[in-house]
Amino acid sequence: MNTRKLGQQGPEVSAIGLGCMGMSGMYGPADTQESVATIHAAIDAGVTLLDTGDFYGMGDNELLIGRALADRDRDALSISVKFGGLRTPDGGWSGYDGRPAAVKNFLAYSLTRLGTDHIDVYRLSRVDPDVPIEETVGAIAEMVEAGYVRHVGLSEAGADTVRRAAAVHPIADLQIEYSLLSRGIEDEILPACREVGAAVTAYGVLSRGLLSGHWSADRELQQGDFRGMSPRFQGENLQHNLDLVEALRELAETRDASVAQVAIAWVLSRGEDIVPLVGARRRDRLHEALGALDLQLDADDLERIEQAVPAGAAAGDRYPEPLMADLER
Ligand SMILES: NC(=O)c1ccc[n+]([C@@H]2O[C@H](COP(=O)([O-])OP(=O)(O)OC[C@H]3O[C@@H](n4cnc5c(N)ncnc54)[C@H](OP(=O)(O)O)[C@@H]3O)[C@@H](O)[C@H]2O)c1
Repeated sequence: MNTRKLGQQGPEVSAIGLGCMGMSGMYGPADTQESVATIHAAIDAGVTLLDTGDFYGMGDNELLIGRALADRDRDALSISVKFGGLRTPDGGWSGYDGRPAAVKNFLAYSLTRLGTDHIDVYRLSRVDPDVPIEETVGAIAEMVEAGYVRHVGLSEAGADTVRRAAAVHPIADLQIEYSLLSRGIEDEILPACREVGAAVTAYGVLSRGLLSGHWSADRELQQGDFRGMSPRFQGENLQHNLDLVEALRELAETRDASVAQVAIAWVLSRGEDIVPLVGARRRDRLHEALGALDLQLDADDLERIEQAVPAGAAAGDRYPEPLMADLER
């Protein structure tokens, strides 16, 4: 497995990471046994970066990872944890908390649920508008000093926040949506990351399945599936976006690859400092995704991809409107 480094001080991780969010309800019900088998298969294939959030399934996702790692070499892995997202008992969302005392509280619970004594990369999931980023990052830096955290990360932060955070403590990576359909980071945020020496861990590289080549307009969504409220999966937007996928499929076929592999390989081609997180929750999907590592896109492929899915081609925002307000752009 190829590796890439997150930031100037590491860690060195597999070139593709496994995002575990979809194993705890964000895309409707998941199969726990298959989820654990998928984590194990990823580790067996050489994946060393696992991403979670303490709010995915209100702690369920961390418990799941803790269970999956019980008989594995935890120290061979990097666990990335997001915190700060506040939940309600009915599964709703009620804001973000980046206060220093909250950071330490969230961390204590995460360590317990994961069954580990440290977290490799710890990050606030969305910038808390009421708490200067310097205070949140300062609190994580204290936890680095105390040995509970190895590296500081960010999530969905804008260029200014990236610079301010990096002035307090080195930033390993910014986790942010980046794909053929979501190229918003290219103008300012990615250059800011490069300026401060932070990597990017890209999520939504398959646009939550839309760009996988497996999506169809008649797919029925189960209750609690985020895609049921995502603008890109609705009506005319969906049809427009699926037409883009078909254009990509033509190119994929000439390379004996799947659409998902082309989409992931394109993100990999954007720079050695970019690590795609794939959200596979089944072993077959995982293996398909990892196949992208064998697909070298040449200049001609990249040009044809650009023609098939030019920047800004997607119809619909990447989140529903109220959630767009939580993103720094
Ligand atoms: N920082 C943040 O704000 C943030 C936000 C979202 C996610 N994340 C992280 O990033 C990870 C990945 O995000 P994502 O789930 O949105 O990513 P994604 O990889 O774009 O979408 C994953 C979904 O695509 C579908 N899919 C179809 N073929 C696939 C294949 N070959 N490999 C993988 N998935 C395939 C699956 O849906 P079906 O199973 O329904 O087919 C899967 O659940 C998450 O698990 C989470 O750790 C971070």
